[in-house]
Amino acid sequence: MGEKQREISVSEFFTKNRHLLGFDSPARALLTTVKEAVDNSLDAAEEAGILPTLRVDLVEVSEDRYRVAVEDNGPGIVKAQVPKVFGKLLYGSKFHRLAQRRGQQGLGVSAAGMYGQLTTGKPIIITSKTGKGRPAHHFEIVIDTARNAPSIVKDATIDWDRDHGTRVEIELEGLYKGGRRSVDEYLEQVAIANPHAEILYQPPRDRELVRYARLTEELPPEPVEIEPHPYGVELGSLQRLLKDTQARTLSSALQTEFSRVSARVAGEILSIAGLPANRRPHEVEPAEVERLHRAIPKVKIQAPPSSCVVPIGEELIRRGLEREIRAEFATSSTRPPAVYRGNPFIVEAGLAYGGDLRQETEDDEAPHASTKTVDAQQGPITLLRLANRVPLQYQQSACAIFRAAVETNWRQYGLTQPKGSLPQGPMVLLVHVASVWVPFTSESKEAVAHYPEMLKEIRLALQDCGRKLGSYLRRREHERRELRRRSIFEMYIGELVESLGKLARVDRKKLQKELAALAAQHTGDGAEEAAPIIAATKRVREGVDEEADSEEMEVPK
Ligand SMILES: Nc1ncnc2c1ncn2[C@@H]1O[C@H](COP(=O)(O)OP(=O)(O)OP(=O)(O)O)[C@@H](O)[C@H]1O
Ligand SMILES: [Mg+2]
Repeated sequence: MGEKQREISVSEFFTKNRHLLGFDSPARALLTTVKEAVDNSLDAAEEAGILPTLRVDLVEVSEDRYRVAVEDNGPGIVKAQVPKVFGKLLYGSKFHRLAQRRGQQGLGVSAAGMYGQLTTGKPIIITSKTGKGRPAHHFEIVIDTARNAPSIVKDATIDWDRDHGTRVEIELEGLYKGGRRSVDEYLEQVAIANPHAEILYQPPRDRELVRYARLTEELPPEPVEIEPHPYGVELGSLQRLLKDTQARTLSSALQTEFSRVSARVAGEILSIAGLPANRRPHEVEPAEVERLHRAIPKVKIQAPPSSCVVPIGEELIRRGLEREIRAEFATSSTRPPAVYRGNPFIVEAGLAYGGDLRQETEDDEAPHASTKTVDAQQGPITLLRLANRVPLQYQQSACAIFRAAVETNWRQYGLTQPKGSLPQGPMVLLVHVASVWVPFTSESKEAVAHYPEMLKEIRLALQDCGRKLGSYLRRREHERRELRRRSIFEMYIGELVESLGKLARVDRKKLQKELAALAAQHTGDGAEEAAPIIAATKRVREGVDEEADSEEMEVPK
């Protein structure tokens, strides 16, 4: 047995478990590759304070092989870092920080490169330039999976007509298809979630270049990076933190390693734990760490600063939805910041209803059916899930966003909803969770874990949008009813004039006109509004009677 024991490199592990990273089918592999590169480009540009411009190219090399190229105008990557960033799994600049970024694990793009290498034998190709006048570096890199280390195939300096930016090219076994969960749809959603980005997309097979223009020239505010909040810190993390800290005393360790811990708060924690403030952190015994851990929740500590999470914002969500979908109604709602396990987060939701989302059968085939029933025939709504501005495409039913949407009672807002399912109708519903650390259920970052605090916030955002939709639908239904009533009345005007004309000599044209004008005026509420019409009809009738008295009557035979 002993002879068979040996270390497993992380690359070997993920080669065998590629499904954990989102490479379990050719179609998904293509999407994941685009996604990882796009996430990184947007992160890099934003972090450098640059309005992102991205170009995504998909080239079909053969039926089951594609070349993905993603280019950005970001800050570029310094030469020494390039091999590790792309040729080593679990290497990155984001894992050890608590800041709202799309990437967090240091796995994304290197895993995509590794998958490409595994399925096509081709290296990952990188071109990067960090500033005007500086050289552009061109690398071809493969991953040595046994060592989880980069091996450089080519390293050259080239001319590149850009001031700064990065271009990543990966060839892989993949499958391109349109429709749901396609690269096309993904990029459309990226554009909704990132109204400050310009995205150019060249789909494969000579299709036309797609351009998503910026909706705003303003970069979202840079999320403030924070230290972890002491509430919710795990015992093991606390232990490691005290081992690794540079601080000389327990009091200063608590203040520097955590957010919102002042000297006073640190003093209170330590006194409850029965530990001296000037104790050296490295010398704290395991039993004492446990006491410290138990003391933390007993002290009142201010919530983390909300500037560390940046939402898209109500207005931009609505405008983004309206640009991509010609709906008849759109609304949105952004919640105030909340905290799960010590990590701040914000939830926001938006929805677009009706308009182009509705199937065309409604007016042609079923003019008298209630709109609600017709809308319901469309099947479930489309749910767009976003985490830190990244659209999530797979594992919908495992996601907290899905669960909160299913658990919301949409019937009270005028939609049909089968038990335990999403509501039905011509609607796109968007939910965005922004956090310093999004709790994904797996490394492929496709589903948000079910933290009760998060479920609650999602539900509240959905309810807010639902209420606004409900009042719109009620108003619309009311107007439609009125319209229908009016048109029924209009249908009988001709007949009415005809009959009255037979009873008395009346100016038929004038009468017809008067009645039509009355019907047109009649747009308001039920009986009250119908009253003038009834009165007018009566007047006409009475008029006829008067006329009948004074003039000779044409007696119908
Ligand atoms: N286009 C780019 N421009 C600048 N830096 C980049 C670019 N792409 C990647 N990087 C750097 O390479 C690192 C590794 O990227 P990678 O996608 O592997 O991990 P990550 O983005 O940190 O986390 P995740 O696994 O969640 O995506 C990033 O943290 C970033 O510092
Ligand atoms: Mg990444």
